[in-house]
Amino acid sequence: MSKTIFITGTSSGLGKLTAIHFAKLGWNVAATMRSPEKETELTTYSNIKIFKLDVTDVEQVRSAVQEATEAFGKIDVVVNNAGMGAYGALELAEEETIDWQFAVNVRGPINVIRGFLPHFRGNGGGKFINISSLMGVTTAVPIGSLYNMSKFALEGLTEGLYYELKPLNIGLHLIEQGGSAGNNFLNNIIWSQSEDIRAYDDIIAKVKESFERSAESPSDDPQEIVNAIAKLATGESNQFRTLVGKSTEDLVAFRKSVPIEQFLETVASNYNL
Ligand SMILES: NC(=O)c1ccc[n+]([C@@H]2O[C@H](COP(=O)([O-])OP(=O)(O)OC[C@H]3O[C@@H](n4cnc5c(N)ncnc54)[C@H](OP(=O)(O)O)[C@@H]3O)[C@@H](O)[C@H]2O)c1
Repeated sequence: MSKTIFITGTSSGLGKLTAIHFAKLGWNVAATMRSPEKETELTTYSNIKIFKLDVTDVEQVRSAVQEATEAFGKIDVVVNNAGMGAYGALELAEEETIDWQFAVNVRGPINVIRGFLPHFRGNGGGKFINISSLMGVTTAVPIGSLYNMSKFALEGLTEGLYYELKPLNIGLHLIEQGGSAGNNFLNNIIWSQSEDIRAYDDIIAKVKESFERSAESPSDDPQEIVNAIAKLATGESNQFRTLVGKSTEDLVAFRKSVPIEQFLETVASNYNL
């Protein structure tokens, strides 16, 4: 019998690619997104069903879990992929931006995990794969404190949950990637900056410029990330954390190999701070 995967944030980027990959592998796919009415590509696959889901809305999570389990009977793997970036100066961030960053990247996965736990308990097991980031294990980019906060929190949530879900045969995994091609991530960033307070202008400009450069030559191949998700979903890998991409691996290795003060100063000096 085909297995079923439930994925959040499948309107673009990694989520969409993952949905298509699993559909081609013959899995059933519950592809969720905020605006299903706009989707034209995933609708062409007979084994993909699309469900409306804004992960910040607990009621929508309940409905999506119910509809997906009714449609497919059993969900085997849940991928918490939906995520957005808040960058810019913390001092200049709108209150709503701070709450929104937490709501999408942390509260969202919490809502989805809590939504699926009764189903997984009932089935005697299941698997959560949480899409974190290089920014979940290092502070590789200045003015990314809110995004760092959200992905560090996702890492802590996932690691902390390990113990209570292990006896229930429910697995937890984290994927840490750098920038990859073919997504909307950079277009969707909310930048906190101000016309009145110019103290952060230089560093904001430098980070924007480095993002533009990395968009032109992204460090990670998105298919590598999808392959890493597939290995975890099929049980070929049981790694708790999977780092994807050479530059991500190198940076995390460097982070671990030197005192934090040296790491912070190295990143700062990369941006002439
Ligand atoms: N691209 C990178 O540089 C990078 C690096 C490291 C980690 N990541 C992580 O990788 C994951 C996928 O991002 P991506 O690179 O594929 O970027 P992306 O193309 O922007 O995809 C993000 C997806 O999340 C969805 N989303 C945003 N807010 C949502 C909400 N409240 N409820 C449900 N869905 C929501 C978006 O849907 P809408 O179309 O409705 O906005 C979109 O489908 C994210 O968790 C991101 O943090 C990305």
